[in-house]
Amino acid sequence: MRQETNDPVLEVDGLVKRYDPPKGVLAVDGVSFSIAPGEVFSLLGPNGAGKTTTISMICGLLSPTAGDAVIGGYSIRRQPAQAKMLMGVAPQEVAVYGDLSARENLSFFGRMYGLRGEKLTERVGEVLQTIGLADRARERVAKFSSGMKRRLNIGIALLHQPHLLILDEPTVGIDPQSRRHILDEVIALNRAGTSVLYTTHYMEEAQELSHTIAIMDHGRIIACGSHAELVKQVGEVDHLELVTSQPPEQALEVWKDVEGITKSFVQDGKTVLWARAGDALLPRLFERAASVGLRVLSVQVQEPNLESVFLHLTGRALRDT
Ligand SMILES: Nc1ncnc2c1ncn2[C@@H]1O[C@H](COP(=O)(O)OP(=O)(O)OP(=O)(O)O)[C@@H](O)[C@H]1O
Ligand SMILES: [Mg+2]
Repeated sequence: MRQETNDPVLEVDGLVKRYDPPKGVLAVDGVSFSIAPGEVFSLLGPNGAGKTTTISMICGLLSPTAGDAVIGGYSIRRQPAQAKMLMGVAPQEVAVYGDLSARENLSFFGRMYGLRGEKLTERVGEVLQTIGLADRARERVAKFSSGMKRRLNIGIALLHQPHLLILDEPTVGIDPQSRRHILDEVIALNRAGTSVLYTTHYMEEAQELSHTIAIMDHGRIIACGSHAELVKQVGEVDHLELVTSQPPEQALEVWKDVEGITKSFVQDGKTVLWARAGDALLPRLFERAASVGLRVLSVQVQEPNLESVFLHLTGRALRDT
């Protein structure tokens, strides 16, 4: 069944997952969202936020405690076989056979999707090109780098030309070059019309790739929108990063109660201050520093980003959780 142009590719409605009920972990606690055709939609959240559990329910690997996901009009609960054919999933734990070559892996999984004969050979060839492994197609996968295995994992998800490509943290634990390759591949696939559901705990990736970002924490979506919409939630505050002659913890003590400061913390060896925008702020900070012999070596004003949004909403830093 083909999509009508403006119907969502995927509609997720009130998904809940409690592992080992009644007392087990409530991993997903009422998640709803929808993905428009041609959209890259990211679930951004720290370890344990519930991203993989959400995706596992959407692609039919886990049965929901409550709620449903509908893809192309098919409910994952009521019509799982049809629904699954419209999705391609690259799981967080790479699932490829080390003893087989890249081509043999793709052929094996292609047959599982019902591809045969010339169509299978053709798709395997196309996918090898897409994932940039055509020249390594005959090598045993056991010898591949983790970046190459990840690319093959994505290739498997692409074989049957799914409406929705689901990628669960596809860049974790790989070198920067492979990471760049995967991000570019996602961008190219999306430009060619594939809708993507992407999970990550890297805010830079979510920002670069996504039309829409849902920030997840403790099994819930705590904010959802475009990057610009999310950042707006932080409000009209300045973000200052200061490097000082003394350790940042000491500088924090000096500045944290200066008038206008709304949040203060140490990150990456710097003192970070959020403050209501105001001309008098910097002079006040310098004055206070001078009074205790603290020297300011540099001041940088940062635009708010997704990290700021997470911190604003949860009081915790995304990268430290
Ligand atoms: N099979 C399981 N049985 C019991 N609890 C589980 C199981 N899988 C996950 N959990 C718990 O559910 C919560 C959500 O886990 P999940 O793997 O969905 O998070 P995640 O956002 O994908 O995290 P990560 O970024 O580490 O992959 C965590 O508290 C986790 O410990
Ligand atoms: Mg996960």
